[in-house]
Amino acid sequence: MKVKDYKEEQQVYISRMPEVLGRIYKRTPTACIFTYGCQQNVSDSERIKGMLCEMGYTIVDEAEGADFVLYNTCAVRGHAEDRVYGNVGAMKHYKKRHPEMIIAVCGCMAQQESVKDRIKKSYPYVDLVFGTHVQYRLPEFLYKRLNGSPRIFEISEGEEIIENIPVRRDGDFKAWLPIMYGCNNFCSYCIVPYVRGRERSRHPDEILSEARELVAKGYKDITLLGQNVNSYGAGCDFNLNFAGLLRKINDIEGDFRIRFMTSHPKDCTIELLDAMKDCEKVSRHLHLPFQSGSNRILSLMNRRYTREKYLSLVEESRLRMPDISLTSDIIVGFPGETYEDFCETLSLVEQVRFSSLFTFIFSPRNNTPAANMEDPVSREEKGKWFDELLKVQEKIGRQISEECVGQVYRVLCDDYGRKDGKMAGHTIGTAVVEFDGDETDLGKFINVKVEKISNVLEGTRID
Ligand code: SAH
Ligand code: SF4
Ligand code: F3S
Repeated sequence: MKVKDYKEEQQVYISRMPEVLGRIYKRTPTACIFTYGCQQNVSDSERIKGMLCEMGYTIVDEAEGADFVLYNTCAVRGHAEDRVYGNVGAMKHYKKRHPEMIIAVCGCMAQQESVKDRIKKSYPYVDLVFGTHVQYRLPEFLYKRLNGSPRIFEISEGEEIIENIPVRRDGDFKAWLPIMYGCNNFCSYCIVPYVRGRERSRHPDEILSEARELVAKGYKDITLLGQNVNSYGAGCDFNLNFAGLLRKINDIEGDFRIRFMTSHPKDCTIELLDAMKDCEKVSRHLHLPFQSGSNRILSLMNRRYTREKYLSLVEESRLRMPDISLTSDIIVGFPGETYEDFCETLSLVEQVRFSSLFTFIFSPRNNTPAANMEDPVSREEKGKWFDELLKVQEKIGRQISEECVGQVYRVLCDDYGRKDGKMAGHTIGTAVVEFDGDETDLGKFINVKVEKISNVLEGTRID
């Protein structure tokens, strides 16, 4: 895998930025970043903020009056794109009031030629558009634009990995840790492989040193990220697969948890389930999207596993970890899906009993094979199926919560509760429990006994 060093590539621009920013803004400039989409984008935005802070910007939450505003976008469904166009459109007025403002659009949506052209033509106040492969060149783009270059549109692709980008993390005890980028699977409905490029794994030394640094800084919950973490290391010369990587991270000394997403069922192995079982720091949670319970639809989706294989993975994981939480993604209304096919999805949901589900109505994406398949079922009908699925899951979710009552869990306090005097924490699975506490509990592990369920689990502390 070809690796590039951010500092080596960008140093000329980084070193000149303080002078440029001082000359133009005559005060510490501010930057506001809006992030859409999955955790990969959240993680990318943390690196974008890292670069901006290094150049001398302060990060703010409000776009109005900010000197740099960036939209890090998602293209996975049509709705995600519509929202971005609406929000970028609203920036026109801000820029009128503050002409020195730089507006940028990056991320998965921007990686598409058609989106780049539309912004070029219809959003003349957008200064920079850049794709997922060139995010590390932000200092160069800003430097050039602030020095009078014409608007910049850069969506070239590159198959290398960029290391040493500074990170400004959003949280103090939960961290995202990307282990690989891109995707090779080409599920027939999905745009990700087109906008993120081919799959490439970071070297284990880079991942382990970032993980060690996080633990040393006091991070308690590390989520390893990749579109399909189960194929980590495939085709690389370092000879370590995902199960092996988990074991190595688990060996790092310290009291912390390891999570990961996403797992593709076709590459989920017994070796991985064994590693999860053996590693005490690895969460008892497997996010294993099945998308559809019908073998006919799975084949049209190019998912390359069957309902039977999926169910056997569920069984093997529960054999090893009886307390494991399973979650999944489902697409309702794939082209050609019939009500009978949908009923197979429902029956799989009832059979597996997931802790929670992420459910989506099929959205045709540009240039994906599924966008050209016959799709006779109306949106309204798909909406009815979708609601039916939600109802079934609601009941199951409630039953799973009821089973938690009376149990004691070690939770990582990671949020405020809904009422004053209450804090919230995650179990090593996916459950969230609220208990009496204050902000000094944030980032600490606390034992709680679940007493009852209202909308959430409510528990008392046990010392
Ligand atoms: N790599 C991950 C998921 C990435 S996208 C995986 O393979 O599981 C997250 C989810 O969005 C997918 O699991 C799928 O359920 C949903 N999704 C992707 N493309 C979609 C589309 N065109 N329409 C509706 N949902 C889609
Ligand atoms: Fe999309 Fe499939 Fe790749 Fe996931 S595995 S990102 S659903 S193509
Ligand atoms: Fe969206 Fe890109 Fe993630 S399309 S789901 S932000 S990889």
